[in-house]
Amino acid sequence: MRNDTALITEQVLIAPDIMRMELETEIAADTSCGQFIQILVPGYFLRRPISVSQVRDNCHLSLIYRVVGDGTRVLSQLKAGEKLDIFGPLGHGFPVIDEDVVLIGGGVGIPPLIETAKRHISSGHHVTAVLGFASESQIFAKEELESLNAEVIIATLDGSCGAKGTVIDAVHAHDIAKETTVMACGPLGMLKAVSAYFEHGYISLEERMACGIGACMGCVVKTPEGDTMRVCKDGPVFEIGKVVL
Ligand SMILES: Cc1cc2nc3c(=O)[nH]c(=O)nc-3n(C[C@H](O)[C@H](O)[C@H](O)COP(=O)(O)OP(=O)(O)OC[C@H]3O[C@@H](n4cnc5c(N)ncnc54)[C@H](O)[C@@H]3O)c2cc1C
Ligand code: FES
Repeated sequence: MRNDTALITEQVLIAPDIMRMELETEIAADTSCGQFIQILVPGYFLRRPISVSQVRDNCHLSLIYRVVGDGTRVLSQLKAGEKLDIFGPLGHGFPVIDEDVVLIGGGVGIPPLIETAKRHISSGHHVTAVLGFASESQIFAKEELESLNAEVIIATLDGSCGAKGTVIDAVHAHDIAKETTVMACGPLGMLKAVSAYFEHGYISLEERMACGIGACMGCVVKTPEGDTMRVCKDGPVFEIGKVVL
């Protein structure tokens, strides 16, 4: 992990309140799927953690983030050509395994699954991506995943596109076997439902964080045995069943 002054090469709105930012940075060379970077937003002391959505050519990182508060609002106003202080890559990401996988993402849990899909597809495996949104107008990342040759299944809570209901409703509607290895990222309720249905796999926890490097204990979760794990350093990706949700 290291600090870098990244160059913003593109920043676009891809859905309501959802931005995609492209960065040119040497950090890309060491970054794997499911890892994140800490961004120093101009004017703020605490860095904001954002997952890496794609790594390109070993020198570009793609981020997808939702504008939810002051930090991400300031971030969304930066333009191509401006510089950004970033730190990373951080955490343990998703493993790349020698199997077909099902990826399940809800809202801004979807970004880290894109690079995860790319790495499994490029090693010859079939990837099914089940993406959950509130409604059709909120959908993003579908074309990006399809262009990588992932099979994309959409669930919307209001039924305006794809299966009506949650990602788990879509999993049932498409008869996805519980024996398939799953990799998931999204809201806690979704991760609980995924962990209850699938027999094995991995989940990424996007807890609130401070230091991001394992020093402050601001992001701890417990194992079933009662031991403490830091989401930023031991995770954010954990094997299903290894942490209490
Ligand atoms: C490892 C990791 C990876 C992440 N990856 C992404 C990503 O790829 N895309 C993305 O959009 N977001 C991601 N997040 C969440 C992102 O870090 C926060 O949304 C961001 O820091 C909010 O900053 P802010 O200053 O705009 O909001 P704040 O003013 O700090 O908060 C605004 C609102 O957002 C809520 N919030 C803040 N942080 C989080 C969080 N971590 N989880 C849930 N709610 C939060 C607050 O409770 C509050 O309601 C990730 C978080 C972690 C820990
Ligand atoms: S954020 Fe400091 S230990 Fe995880």
